[in-house]
Amino acid sequence: MMHKMLIVSNMRELSQRTHTCGVLSCTQVNQTVTLMGWIQSLRDHGGLCFIDLRDREGITQLVLDPNKFQETLNILKPESVIEVCGTVQRRPQETVNKRIATGEIEVQVNYIEIHNSCQTLPFPLDDKADRVSEDLRLTYRYLDLRRKTNQNRLQLRHHASMVIRNYLSEEGFFEIETPILFKSTPEGAREFLVPSRLNPGQCYALTQSPQQYKQMLMVAGVERYFSLARCFRDEDLRADRQPEFTQIDLEASFIDREDIYALLEGLVAKLWHDCLGTSVKMPFLRMTFKDVMNRFGSDKPDMRFGMELQDVSAIFQASKLQVFANVVAKRGVIKALRVAHFADITTGELNTLEQKAKDLGAQGLAFLKVKSGEWKSPLTKFLSDEEKQALVKTLDIQEGDCLFFMAGSWEKACTILGKIRLEIGSILEKRGLLTISPSDYKFLWVVDFPLLTFDEEQNKYVATHHPFTAPLKADVPLLKTDPQKVRGQHYDLVLNGTELGGGSIRIHSAEIQQFIFEDVLKLAPEVVENRFGYLLQAFKFGAPPHGGIALGFDRLVALMTGTHSIRDVIAFPKTQKGQDLMSLSPGYVDDRQLEDLNLQFSFNTQK
Ligand code: AMO
Repeated sequence: MMHKMLIVSNMRELSQRTHTCGVLSCTQVNQTVTLMGWIQSLRDHGGLCFIDLRDREGITQLVLDPNKFQETLNILKPESVIEVCGTVQRRPQETVNKRIATGEIEVQVNYIEIHNSCQTLPFPLDDKADRVSEDLRLTYRYLDLRRKTNQNRLQLRHHASMVIRNYLSEEGFFEIETPILFKSTPEGAREFLVPSRLNPGQCYALTQSPQQYKQMLMVAGVERYFSLARCFRDEDLRADRQPEFTQIDLEASFIDREDIYALLEGLVAKLWHDCLGTSVKMPFLRMTFKDVMNRFGSDKPDMRFGMELQDVSAIFQASKLQVFANVVAKRGVIKALRVAHFADITTGELNTLEQKAKDLGAQGLAFLKVKSGEWKSPLTKFLSDEEKQALVKTLDIQEGDCLFFMAGSWEKACTILGKIRLEIGSILEKRGLLTISPSDYKFLWVVDFPLLTFDEEQNKYVATHHPFTAPLKADVPLLKTDPQKVRGQHYDLVLNGTELGGGSIRIHSAEIQQFIFEDVLKLAPEVVENRFGYLLQAFKFGAPPHGGIALGFDRLVALMTGTHSIRDVIAFPKTQKGQDLMSLSPGYVDDRQLEDLNLQFSFNTQK
């Protein structure tokens, strides 16, 4: 009975908040105000007690007379939620705090109420929290999110979403929601399946992206669609990958690649201007897939620093260095990377780089150091004078350089040396020899990707991006004769080593789409009918030429806020193991629930 009465007495009506904690200034001196928020800090200065009261908008200093509020002050703890009423007064000149907007005033409190007191915190909510394990911060994500850095990130994300919505709406795009429960299309990333209770034995799949729906909207005559779409992929997770994430997804009819470039460059410029107060250099650079791979060893190159790869295959064609000559004879390549001022690389660093290369599938990582005019390398004894001269000329070798060589198939040699380039970039950055700034925005369109990639395991071609991408018109005849050479009308938008987004002009002819499915990708006709029958049919009812793109919204916001991990810009992200540590999901479910879905695990679940 006592307990119940206590609860009832606590439930009085909430007062009206008159101001937020970020707005009071000398203008309100002598006014009576009511503020609410969290106790950021408490300081007892003997005769007076100071509280920094925080809400989303800022901090206001409160002054309390300990004689009047002794009982309350004894139980007040940081991060408790309180309401105060008091009078605004000018701070004594020597205590003015210029670092905060409300630094000229304080509120002399005459009433205080604790709405909710806070237990001892599991970690401090200041800058030191960055040193606390991420798992602990994610377990108490609601506390972690109270920190200023995270509040700023959420605010910027919101601001960016509003800019995107306004920009696209002004460009004539309609925001349309598409289903999240879709059918399984296993040729993309691994999917999350959802068993259907009403259709026993059948499953939905959570959409990997609204790709097919947005194409259907084009057939439906919508002409311009966009959505901030939730997407789901059961992939191995990394700093830039989450199992559920958001795309700025759009599609338009009667457009070509140039229209997409102009639309997206305009959007990025607006975002950078409105959210970051900076301008971006336009138009964005464009490079073909072949060129970025040759020069940077990646289809998402970080172009904030040089150190480009070079091709030295011709030099080793007839070399005594058999390992290299053999690779060239088999139509492979030798790629080289020259790093200035790196001849003092330690054996430990060399071993680590070599191990990295081996983990990526290389046999090894050949190197050459130029010290006191001498070439130090296990390769030197195999090199003829002509080969040495040719290397000096091609690579512009200088005293103090360290060179790395990678032999292999074109794609493998480029990719592995491209990753070594990034590793060396961060070593040089740590040594202070290179600056790679997060606010040096190097945007790039990568174009002319191969439409198809040969998958050794499946012994057949797979779509490099997805099977709906249109081939370049000029390359269509090659589809029958030399599919590997067909370029797709695909484009990726890259920023500082991250793939921000990708899209393409689509196939809108049922005939070509069917040919791609069946004759090129070798999907059985019944599989095509089952998975894509409706799409092929729609393309026979007046489908307009169309194309689109999707940008990773989380990646975009992460880059805008200068953080490396997209977990930092998602309110409730999952861990590397796909878990939500706060709500403890995924979790076991009742047998009844499984029975409803006609499901049974083949092992005993631990509950
Ligand atoms: P794509 O698969 O390239 O294209 O995805 C587009 C962009 O979405 C982001 N992204 C991710 N972000 C976080 N976590 C993930 N697991 C994740 N996977 C992808 C990336 C990527 O560039 N339907 C096509 C687009 C189109 O053709 O219009 C698509 O989804 O930033």
